[in-house]
Amino acid sequence: MKAYQIETILSSNRKQKPVTEQLEFGTIFTDHMFIMDYSVERGWHDPRIIPYQPISLDPAAMVFHYGQTVFEGLKAYLSKDGEVFLFRPDRNFSRMNQSNARLCIPPIDEELAVEALKQLVKIDQDWIPKAEGTSLYIRPFIISTAPHLGVAPSESYQFIIILSPVGSYYKEGIHPVKISVEQNYVRAVAGGTGEAKTGGNYANGLKAQEEAAKLGYSQVLWLDGRENKYIEEVGSMNVFFKINGEIVTPALNGSILQGITRDSIIQLLKHWNIPVIERRISVEEIYQSYREGLLEEAFGTGTAAVISPIGEFLWKGEKLVVNSGEVGQLTRELYDTLTGIQNGTKEDPFGWRVQL
Ligand code: COI
Repeated sequence: MKAYQIETILSSNRKQKPVTEQLEFGTIFTDHMFIMDYSVERGWHDPRIIPYQPISLDPAAMVFHYGQTVFEGLKAYLSKDGEVFLFRPDRNFSRMNQSNARLCIPPIDEELAVEALKQLVKIDQDWIPKAEGTSLYIRPFIISTAPHLGVAPSESYQFIIILSPVGSYYKEGIHPVKISVEQNYVRAVAGGTGEAKTGGNYANGLKAQEEAAKLGYSQVLWLDGRENKYIEEVGSMNVFFKINGEIVTPALNGSILQGITRDSIIQLLKHWNIPVIERRISVEEIYQSYREGLLEEAFGTGTAAVISPIGEFLWKGEKLVVNSGEVGQLTRELYDTLTGIQNGTKEDPFGWRVQL
């Protein structure tokens, strides 16, 4: 492993920590941040950890106009013995480079990014909340900073990592969420940016999410952009169904996010010898299984959402209530095992946990 020089300037003005039992998602930030710059002449340079602070950008910075930006999401966990763990951080930075390639952003050094993250989390580790279901959410992101209104890849960027102590993403916590199947809008199309973790995919989803919220639904289930027929993902998570004993999830097709939690769940199910199939799934098929009483469980997976049981789908005005709106047994086992691996209370046969 290379020795990286990451300059550190510690904050002399520490903020008050929140009451961890009352944490929401993504509203509070720690005392420090990581930042690194890119220029054509120097490449990525000056990696540094500095006090958390606003950044100053030219109003013509390209990120404001054309959305050339990518982001990631992962978490740090505190074990009951006081150890700090990250969960598969290398996967986040390799996915960030995949997103970078799609958005014409120069690749980052993945090893440097993991090292910078470890140093940053170590400095702010007393911000990792202890209450059940809480963690330190980590948000790495890259923005295009060149002041230029021509549509072209930017010639300068900033790579930043910020940290936020969080509670559950959905107000429902581990209780099942209600999801509306989207009929009017699409999230992504073949050849688009659906697979990349870029802000535009999420801005694009706001309208549908707002309309679903008015009907009492937390998120929307996106269908494919061509036939409006095949299930892709939910706003902030990948999706799994248990149908007649078999677990199915939409196969990655270029427009679905390659979730790291999704991959972990597939590996966990295979480890338990539970059949899990990645394939195309039509919403009609889910409806038919529901009508025949074969739709046993549904859940979403994501870093922010963890494992989130789905208790109801709204489709064409009909409510499909899954497992009487209760958390399914498999969903519960997956939640307990995954969070146990993440926070050190369960064995980690996969080597996913990375201790600071
Ligand atoms: C995550 O799960 O970390 C994400 O980036 C999803 C985000 C929309 C909260």
